[in-house]
Amino acid sequence: MAEPKGYVGYMIVGDKSVEFYRDPVMFVNKRMEEYDTRIFQSRILNKPTVFIGTIQGVQDLVGDCSHNFEMGYKVFMHGLYGDNAVFAEGEEAARLGQVLHSLFEPASMHLFNTKLKNLISKHFSNLDAGTEVSAYEQFKHFATELSFSIFLDVVPSHSAEVYDQLSQLITTHWHGIISVPLSLKLPYWGSSSGYNRALEAKGELLEIIRDRLEKANKGDFLHHISEAGFQNQSEVENHLLLFISALVPKAFASILTSFTLALSGHDKAKQRHQASIDCKYLDHVLLEVQRLWPPFFGGRRLTRKSCVLDGVKVHKGTAVVYMTNSAHRDPKVFTDPEEFKPERWDENGDELEKLLCCFGGGKRKCIGIHLIKNILKEVCTYLLNNYEWSVSDDQDLTYKWLPVSRPIGQLMTQFVSKGNQND
Ligand code: HEM
Repeated sequence: MAEPKGYVGYMIVGDKSVEFYRDPVMFVNKRMEEYDTRIFQSRILNKPTVFIGTIQGVQDLVGDCSHNFEMGYKVFMHGLYGDNAVFAEGEEAARLGQVLHSLFEPASMHLFNTKLKNLISKHFSNLDAGTEVSAYEQFKHFATELSFSIFLDVVPSHSAEVYDQLSQLITTHWHGIISVPLSLKLPYWGSSSGYNRALEAKGELLEIIRDRLEKANKGDFLHHISEAGFQNQSEVENHLLLFISALVPKAFASILTSFTLALSGHDKAKQRHQASIDCKYLDHVLLEVQRLWPPFFGGRRLTRKSCVLDGVKVHKGTAVVYMTNSAHRDPKVFTDPEEFKPERWDENGDELEKLLCCFGGGKRKCIGIHLIKNILKEVCTYLLNNYEWSVSDDQDLTYKWLPVSRPIGQLMTQFVSKGNQND
């Protein structure tokens, strides 16, 4: 058993948060190279933090050793979300998980499918109408409308005013969330006007949610969530607030943007064609997209009891960050880790998929997984069936990683309808 390499330094002066938030991937790659290990320690948000960049380390963290850790998000997000499954521990987490799983199991997907198909058609049937479109913005707009529609039954054609209000409020709420890491480094930042505005937005969002719950029709998701078995109304409202959070559409837009980029251009025409006729191949393309460009940099835990992760000791009281992007490039598991190779999933794909941590893992794995897969598959199939596409060269395609991974440029993309290719 080894101690983690690296330095945690002294309080405040030794803090590396600024360097980390500027470019998290550069931050970790530099240290993994310098210490010649994929597990190291540093000081982030003023807390000694062990960074885990191996598949085995993440498996230990979310699997057999998970009882030694608690979730590490309360300090950033609890004020702006209130109690929900993400902050719960032990039996409370298991209870909420059970209620939520019943809402998002495969058998519940019919609740979402009609709205999903209508919105795909609305947002993507005219992608070739103008010159180029910003893929990221297009997907984010679609995913935002989808989340208001499936979770709150708010659509712009019927309730334009509420829709606009919701759009503004989740943006203000979001600005409060991203201001929090700064507040942890600079005490008193938390009382800044941005954070206070976000708290007000939270109150207004909860009011809209309450109103939508009162107007719920039988058959709506709103009705199902009310009947799902939460202990009280406030639990229902807080989870709806979590689902409509701006982070979710950003995560969808991230994956769809990376998919668009990975299969863009003339040289990818064959792969696009294969993905359009072979559902399994499309699955493998999407797994490879999630492996190389997971939307979230990773996850955070706090160590309740010292333990060992992939042979490295993690001490009680330290924070642990699992780095999805690095674990997905662990050369012990993925050969040629930097290369986009959908065919790597042909053999043992199901087993290998269990090692990905794009949606977390173990008992705390993302509850929306079936819904997410459904949405990604439907959107990508629609794009593949209807368009060829390429991205313009004169934009910055280097990836940034926060708040979600995506190219720095907007990914301006030229979609050409398959029916018009020879025009
Ligand atoms: C592309 C979109 C999404 C991505 C990339 C994503 C990713 C994740 C990840 C990585 C975790 C685990 C965090 C950790 O280990 O610390 C997680 C947890 C969770 N996700 Fe998602 N998620 C997405 C969409 C959704 C949706 C649509 C829902 C619900 C409708 C949802 C509900 C949850 C919940 C409730 C948890 C907490 C589970 C627990 O702590 O027990 N997510 N998600």
